[in-house]
Amino acid sequence: MPFRRFFDRGAKREAPSADDPPTADEMEESVAADEQVEDEDPSEEAEWAGEDAAPEEATDIDWHARAIAILPTGASTGSKRAEALYGSASTPAPTHYIQAAGCRLVDTSGNSLVDCTMALGAVALGYAEPTVQEAVFAAVAHGNVAGLSDPREAIVAERLCDHVPCGEMAQFFKTGAEAVSAAVRIARTYTGRDLVIGSGYFGWHDWSSDSAGVPDAVRSLYRSMAFDDLDALDTSVRGAGDRLAAIVIEPMVERMPSEVWIRKARELATLLGAVLIFDEMKTGFRLRRGGYQELTGITPDLAVFGKALANGFPLAAVVGRRDVMDAARRTWISSTLAGESVGLAAANAVLDVHESADVCAALASTGQAMRAGVTAAIAASGIEGVTVEGLDPMWLLRFDEPRRQTRFLELAASHGVLFKRGAYNYAATAHDEAAIAEIEAAASASFVELRDEEQHRE
Ligand SMILES: Cc1ncc(COP(=O)(O)O)c(C=O)c1O
Repeated sequence: MPFRRFFDRGAKREAPSADDPPTADEMEESVAADEQVEDEDPSEEAEWAGEDAAPEEATDIDWHARAIAILPTGASTGSKRAEALYGSASTPAPTHYIQAAGCRLVDTSGNSLVDCTMALGAVALGYAEPTVQEAVFAAVAHGNVAGLSDPREAIVAERLCDHVPCGEMAQFFKTGAEAVSAAVRIARTYTGRDLVIGSGYFGWHDWSSDSAGVPDAVRSLYRSMAFDDLDALDTSVRGAGDRLAAIVIEPMVERMPSEVWIRKARELATLLGAVLIFDEMKTGFRLRRGGYQELTGITPDLAVFGKALANGFPLAAVVGRRDVMDAARRTWISSTLAGESVGLAAANAVLDVHESADVCAALASTGQAMRAGVTAAIAASGIEGVTVEGLDPMWLLRFDEPRRQTRFLELAASHGVLFKRGAYNYAATAHDEAAIAEIEAAASASFVELRDEEQHRE
């Protein structure tokens, strides 16, 4: 019963003594011991379920309904709302999980699914990756926060700067949006200017958002420009004039941009004394360790990393040129848990993995195999209006009609594979041959069923 291991883990571990923190070997034994406690004491699960539910009954709880009743958007991560997952708020497909390991998750009904979304690209090595877990458990056992800083903050900053071409200094955060906001604050402080132009998605914060609740005065300081569009870049830069503080670019959106566009942004920022910021949240530690800038040799002044950097643990970073980063001392950028140890320990372990193997090459070849399997499934079914796009390590399915996509995603989930709606499927090193075969088989069955349903409707 998958519930058990999930909820027993940690609850039965004895608190370590501060004088005698456990060694890595002891931590391993402790985890192994946790894994043996399966089938004991279901009472914790009942507590977790918030009622006197036996574990078996927990599978009957409608977590989707329960979440909608108490969370205003149904899921605090927007892309995990039912509408975002499947394109339908009333989907029968799974919305909640109880366990994730490698490239697989177990949903709240106890079904196992191969996950192609990898937590929105936050995970590139696999869920619960053992070396990262071990580092995290050890960090927790030693006390993950205190009144002083963890030395890992300096260590991970040094190591990160070694891998990122623009990296001379770094500062840590917990979320991507927080880190990009900080980069923009640093750029504004450095230049003493206010206008920012940008292309891409940078998270939910006010400075780049046109959502309800953002004051017009704030909106007027940000101008969005089209991806890979030289004219839009020229017009936006000209419009900003001598108020241009920063050009912020997500350098890869579904495809590589023309180098001319990015080089032009680099030239204009230098010429006008503005700061060029690359958002490498998805490209960092995926396309290359150092992201798009390492791949192309085009170096921004500041860059933002997150997601795969800590393999799903909360950590993001701004890295960049020393003189620009130095402006952080002339403003106020801080949060209580920015230097908390779990994210740093995870990143430290992730960096070890990257330094011992070419993870990015593995992600590219794994992604290529995933794409090939899905492409073959499309061809074999003879279905039309569906294409596979993107890059190998981050690829996407494009449907001609949202309704068809919803049906396909629901069918695929029923066949044991979670694909991403309208955005990237991410390769992880944990997607092994068996998983890739399952992805192709589920895609194949789902495309055939979708085709047949559509033919019957005609
Ligand atoms: C390119 C990019 N920048 C920023 C963010 C925001 O990161 P977070 O959701 O961790 O705040 C995202 C999230 O998907 C992203 O893809």
